[in-house]
Amino acid sequence: MRLFALLALMAFALPAGALPDLDDEAMAERLAACAACHGPRGEGAPGSEYYPHLAGKPAGYLFAQMQGFRDGRRHYPQMVYLMRNWDDAWLARIASFFAAQPGVVPRHAPPPAQSAADRSRAENLVHEGDRGRELPACASCHGPQLQGREPGVPALAGLPTDYLIAQLGGWMTGARHSIEPDCMARVVARLDPAEVRRIATYLAGLVPEPDSRPLEASAEPLPLDCGGATRFDPARGVAP
Ligand code: HEC
Ligand code: HEC
Repeated sequence: MRLFALLALMAFALPAGALPDLDDEAMAERLAACAACHGPRGEGAPGSEYYPHLAGKPAGYLFAQMQGFRDGRRHYPQMVYLMRNWDDAWLARIASFFAAQPGVVPRHAPPPAQSAADRSRAENLVHEGDRGRELPACASCHGPQLQGREPGVPALAGLPTDYLIAQLGGWMTGARHSIEPDCMARVVARLDPAEVRRIATYLAGLVPEPDSRPLEASAEPLPLDCGGATRFDPARGVAP
């Protein structure tokens, strides 16, 4: 019993490189603390109107976010607390685990009703952008079906409305930062709060394809420089 407790303690204290290989089952068990808010395999917690799902998102993106909570780029208190002592190698393992789970259609309530005019204004910005204010289409980075793109651009379709508003608002107020150059801060600076709400409502109402996966990394440069996860190393994660 005492030996078991000691081993369990060591497993958490050691860098992931020194951990035994953990299969999916063992990873899910070890990550049981995440299940209440994100679902046992990151598929989303039923009934949650805020907690984002993790399953099937690009590993580099997930890694950069966990590192961001640990290093002060994002501020949700429970997430900061959970990540505070974990090293990059272990975060890279967690990211690979959730990225490999089947992409899922999240189960949250439909967004508030949107007028046809508001929907079409949102759709235009998302898919066409606005040349007049040098606003690239969201889809030019996030993908034509907003399915995300390896290694660092997350999917947007079907996230909870409140979560989307909070994230875009976070960039607007400086509460959320990505690794520099922070392209999302630049995108959001070109939107007004009413547009953010309209876009979030539109995106939350999109139903992703079943088991939708992020696109392969783009061979072309993105329309703005993004410093987020530009590469992902499953053993070490990525440096800012
Ligand atoms: C108490 C609920 C709660 C628990 C437990 C929890 N999370 Fe979270 N997590 C959240 C919330 C809420 C957010 C979004 C925070 C924000 O608004 O920035 C989040 C965000 C994330 C993100 C970023 C997702 C994205 O799409 O940007 C990752 C990755 C993540 N959590 C991983 C984990 C892991 C791994 C664990 C377990 C070790 C865990 N979380 C446990 C509530 C939780
Ligand atoms: C130049 C490329 C680019 C464009 C254009 C862009 N994004 Fe992003 N977006 C990113 C990257 C990269 C990230 C990941 C940021 C990070 O690592 O923190 C991101 C993250 C996000 C997130 C966070 C998702 C989550 O799960 O927390 C939201 C929401 C978002 N973008 C919405 C939008 C919207 C809406 C638009 C259009 C108005 C847009 N983006 C345009 C590159 C882009």
